[in-house]
Amino acid sequence: MASVIDIRGLALTYERDGRRTEVLRGLDLSIEPGEFVAIVGESGVGKSTLLRVLIGLAEPSAGTVTVRPSPGREAGRLPPMALVFQDSRLLPWRRVIANVGFGLEWHGVAAAERKRRAQAMLDLVRLGDLAGRWPHQLSGGQRQRVSLARALAVEPDVLLMDEPFSALDSMTREGLQDELLRIRRETGRTILFVTHDIDEAVYLTDRVIVLTGRPAGIGADVRVGIPQPRRRRDPALAEIGRALRAELSQLSSEL
Ligand SMILES: Nc1ncnc2c1ncn2[C@@H]1O[C@H](COP(=O)(O)OP(=O)(O)O)[C@@H](O)[C@H]1O
Ligand SMILES: [Mg+2]
Repeated sequence: MASVIDIRGLALTYERDGRRTEVLRGLDLSIEPGEFVAIVGESGVGKSTLLRVLIGLAEPSAGTVTVRPSPGREAGRLPPMALVFQDSRLLPWRRVIANVGFGLEWHGVAAAERKRRAQAMLDLVRLGDLAGRWPHQLSGGQRQRVSLARALAVEPDVLLMDEPFSALDSMTREGLQDELLRIRRETGRTILFVTHDIDEAVYLTDRVIVLTGRPAGIGADVRVGIPQPRRRRDPALAEIGRALRAELSQLSSEL
């Protein structure tokens, strides 16, 4: 099957106040349809930058990024990717349902269809009853669910998530991780999930990619060969986490 994303020789240099920071260099990465992939690495390594390049918010200074939308996709209307951030970035003056429909509205989807899809996505994240609320009437976990529903509403070929659960308390975080696994099972979406938490990466995903170095490249690309559903305290998961941590400290000591 053709990859949904192909990255070849990607490099990115930021220029600010005449200073150049080369963040990414020589990155090669292919993502297959349906894969659930984690990108891990220490703070400042370039994880968010990679997502910004993928979604078109930053220009690579070298290399290519190829995105292949699925055949059935409404040609040219909706973007092939949607991004969920650490903070929900909901518009405070819009009710929950209008926040979820925002991406569809932006891309010209008619009101009735927008409302139908937004309600379906709220049902999917189990917030169907809160459609009429304002963002300030929600908990942090509920706001992240709305943000996830908004991203899913455009039916993206690839869902990008940038440390989406990092700001939540641990109980809410675990709840949302399991919700994401359920949604992934139900929708079969391709997901690229950025986190600095190796245990979260290993629990959730099929494949963990470690970004390391300055400029950053891919230090490791590891398959988590344990079928879903997984047990959080599975010693086999803990072992993969340990091996990844050892690899990370090894890689950073070689710099
Ligand atoms: N707009 C920008 N201009 C200049 N430097 C930036 C910009 N955005 C990020 N950086 C720098 O690029 C590096 C990678 O940042 P980022 O991708 O946000 O890392 P991560 O998400 O892994 O924490 C950091 O050193 C950061 O300071
Ligand atoms: Mg980041």
